[in-house]
Amino acid sequence: MTAIAFLLFIHVVYYACAQEYKGCFRSSALELPTPTLAYASVPAECTKKCRSHYYMFAALMNGELCYCISRFGQEGLSNSCTVFCAKDPNNYCGSYEAMSVYATGQQGPSPPRRIQVTQDDINALVITWQPPDIPNGNVTFYTVRAVAIKTHTSNILPPVESQIQGGASNSTILRGLQPGTKYNISIIASNTQGPSDPAYAVEWTLIGPPDKPFTPKILERGESTVTVMLTESHSEYGPISAYEVVVVQTGTIPPVGPKVEYLNYDRASKEGLNYYTTAQFDPSDFHRYKRFVVGDGNMIGGYYNIPLKNHFVSAQVGLVVISRIGTEVQRSYSDLTNNMFNRELNATTQTDSTALALCIVITILSILLGASIFLYFVLRRRHERFSMRKLPEQQELTLQGPMHEVDNMGYIPEDIPERVNHYQELKKKVWSIPRNALSIDSFIVRRGRFGTVHTGTVSRDDGSSSTVMIHTIADGALKGSDKRHMLRELDVCIRAGSMKYLAGLVGTCETSDTLYVVLESPPHILKNRLLGARSGGAFPTDRILSISTSIAAALQYLADYKIVHTRLCARSVGLMNDWTPKLIGHGIGKYSLEDVKYTRWTAIECFDRQKKHQPGAIWSFGVLLWEILSMGGTPYSNLTLDSEVEEAVMQGIRLPQLLDVPDPIYEVMSSCWRNDPEERPTLDELIRLDTLTMCPITAITEPYIPELELN
Ligand SMILES: *[C@@H]1O[C@H](CO)[C@@H](O)[C@H](O)[C@H]1NC(C)=O
Ligand SMILES: *[C@@H]1O[C@H](CO)[C@@H](O)[C@H](O)[C@H]1NC(C)=O
Ligand SMILES: *[C@@H]1O[C@H](CO)[C@@H](O)[C@H](O)[C@H]1NC(C)=O
Ligand SMILES: *[C@@H]1O[C@H](CO)[C@@H](O)[C@H](O)[C@H]1NC(C)=O
Repeated sequence: MTAIAFLLFIHVVYYACAQEYKGCFRSSALELPTPTLAYASVPAECTKKCRSHYYMFAALMNGELCYCISRFGQEGLSNSCTVFCAKDPNNYCGSYEAMSVYATGQQGPSPPRRIQVTQDDINALVITWQPPDIPNGNVTFYTVRAVAIKTHTSNILPPVESQIQGGASNSTILRGLQPGTKYNISIIASNTQGPSDPAYAVEWTLIGPPDKPFTPKILERGESTVTVMLTESHSEYGPISAYEVVVVQTGTIPPVGPKVEYLNYDRASKEGLNYYTTAQFDPSDFHRYKRFVVGDGNMIGGYYNIPLKNHFVSAQVGLVVISRIGTEVQRSYSDLTNNMFNRELNATTQTDSTALALCIVITILSILLGASIFLYFVLRRRHERFSMRKLPEQQELTLQGPMHEVDNMGYIPEDIPERVNHYQELKKKVWSIPRNALSIDSFIVRRGRFGTVHTGTVSRDDGSSSTVMIHTIADGALKGSDKRHMLRELDVCIRAGSMKYLAGLVGTCETSDTLYVVLESPPHILKNRLLGARSGGAFPTDRILSISTSIAAALQYLADYKIVHTRLCARSVGLMNDWTPKLIGHGIGKYSLEDVKYTRWTAIECFDRQKKHQPGAIWSFGVLLWEILSMGGTPYSNLTLDSEVEEAVMQGIRLPQLLDVPDPIYEVMSSCWRNDPEERPTLDELIRLDTLTMCPITAITEPYIPELELN
């Protein structure tokens, strides 16, 4: 019994604590707003009220005054909360000079304010808002979501959602919406503690053009009439508001467009136009006009269906479908009826020399095309055979046997001879940096396999100096295979030399016990700049394709030296201050990279971590491209485990097309992820990426989840 009572007591005490009494604080009258409630009976009433206003804290004074506040305690603690609460003599409710402060349980910000939605393109809405007035910390991102509530399509429309990074953001363009659809749009602001309640707005997207109507079918031709069969039209993008039957003189190509309105016969003939509207009717009357007699002399929907005469006798007939809401109008035009009569007349005169000439030209061109395709394949095969024969010879000439880079997890064949003099040979090829020209920061950037990596500076004879990455290798302490491995990785860097888009080897510096390998270190890392753009940093999105092209050029350059980059991702691309990319992390440089969980960039055939080959790097290039276009998003962010990623990729799942990525670019990316390595594009092809066109990036939809990317 006592035990239960004791537990109960603990529970009560605990519960009182869970109400989050923050303490008693001195209050300054200046700081306080007018009370939110003048007669709060108990603390619970006050905290509830303040929470409903999105405040994190409630303060009670003088027994009954209730204040909603965002911060407290600037004046320090007090011990004079001595006035009992008006209706709760078990609790104190501050005093004249002190306040009892409670947490309300509110975590996220208050909702964004003053949402405005304006129509943009037929499938986009521009949404602007004001930040929450009670942010309860810093707003880190906004989530905008559009749910269709009324539409003209029978398809189910999935909600469209976009995440906008950075608390300073106040607008976005939501694309990929259905035209002519009413959306309920919600915006949620999130701070580091949680999301706000949503704020809502409702808006229609602009209507889009109806489906192109079928061409009317001529049933019969009379003296001054043509009878046609009309087919009902359909629109997913708005209502069908009216049909118009138009008459066009044969040989005339009338203008078309959503705003183009054909006049009635009288006005058209006054203006000398060769086309006019002969009838207009409602969709509800369609059944009456399905079989339509052009030229029956009636008034139909305010238009005179005038008997066909003069140059309109053998005229063509078309159907126009009109979709209208308020002042928005969209029109679609059918093709015009074929005029058999007219065709026959012209047919006799038309088999002229131009057509004949055209035929001949087309034939010749097709033959040439066929021949060149044939030639291409012949040359390609020869080239393949040629390079296959040539490879082994080339490899013998190089310093060290097969030259594909070996991953640090990889297997190093034992039969590679350790060349005693190899090290000496290497040294001759690079700048031997005097130790006093090298200043090494003590901070350890990373611990590599052969030693620690530091930043530092190297001073040159001409007085210039540059920031570098320095790999310190306790050379004497390295044993056997480690040493061979290290020399191979160093060799890769030496062989690659320097190139505009590659962060190369600056030189080495040797002391009695330590080898310093000095590598170029670009001032920025692409990944960080992309992520920076999410919170308002600058990033020239119009240069994305040229940056990608330069990376492809660097890979091609490495490939020419038979080096495969095994760590390609946005973290292995440096950026100069002018946004020129510089690939880092080939050879020994890979130890200066962040420790990335690389599965998300790995080609389907490389999951076993044994093979490293060029098509694998092409796959990674595709993922890198996606990473750039998503502004640093995490690939497959919905999958937590690497094994889940592998499984998904095996099942044929690939990264999705992003909102702002045009089809041709997504096609290139997708082709990098083909199962068959042979079918992926070549670097030569990827170098031409910048001939495609990009749209500006307006929506950042892919989350960045660091723990999925970094070890
Ligand atoms: C909010 O952001 C400002 C400026 O970025 C920073 O100084 C401040 O510490 C942040 N506050 C919180 C609670 O994170
Ligand atoms: C959005 O923010 C920008 C600057 O951050 C400001 O110039 C602009 O007036 C804001 N727009 C609205 C609608 O508040
Ligand atoms: C929009 O959606 C919210 C949440 O589902 C709902 O409460 C609100 O009534 C909706 N607004 C309209 C106009 O349908
Ligand atoms: C025959 O075709 C020509 C153009 O190719 C056109 O100008 C002419 O009007 C046509 N003949 C008749 C009778 O319509």
